[in-house]
Amino acid sequence: MTPEQVQLVKDSWAQVTPIADKAAELFYGKLFEMDPSVKPLFKGDITEQGAKLMKMINTAVNGLDRLDEIVPAVQQLGARHVAYGVKDEHYDTVGAALLWTLETGLGDAFTAETKEAWATVYGLLADTMKSAAAQAA
Ligand code: HEM
Repeated sequence: MTPEQVQLVKDSWAQVTPIADKAAELFYGKLFEMDPSVKPLFKGDITEQGAKLMKMINTAVNGLDRLDEIVPAVQQLGARHVAYGVKDEHYDTVGAALLWTLETGLGDAFTAETKEAWATVYGLLADTMKSAAAQAA
């Protein structure tokens, strides 16, 4: 990631955090619409789950300047996702739902460059999680 991309992600995320609850709701609504088969994987309270997801994205966004420091936590997260029944192909759907959520929440502020920067971040996280999942399996 370029320093410019890191800044774009941080600035746009700062605009999402005040509406985190709404963003989480939008995200799960879109995800379950795109792939209803993943809904049964979520056993817990979806509001609580949304808060955890937002917290994790927050950690990742704050850690973008020192990605090497968050890699172990992301690998452990990926390994835990095997037990949740998550498969490699689910990562694409989740990524698409996430970008759609950001686009919906941010409107015109979600420029092509910002979208590209987020796709890069998500791709890095997803690749790290999938590799760790493959090793855990
Ligand atoms: C960058 C990608 C992702 C991030 C940052 C993320 C983050 C999280 C976090 C923080 C948790 C809370 C539990 C824990 O820490 O172990 C969690 C649980 C979970 N995630 Fe993810 N996740 C990602 C991708 C996915 C994908 C692709 C799926 C597929 C549908 C998924 C499905 C789940 C499920 C089913 C749970 C457990 C929910 C429950 O027990 O009710 N996640 N995720």
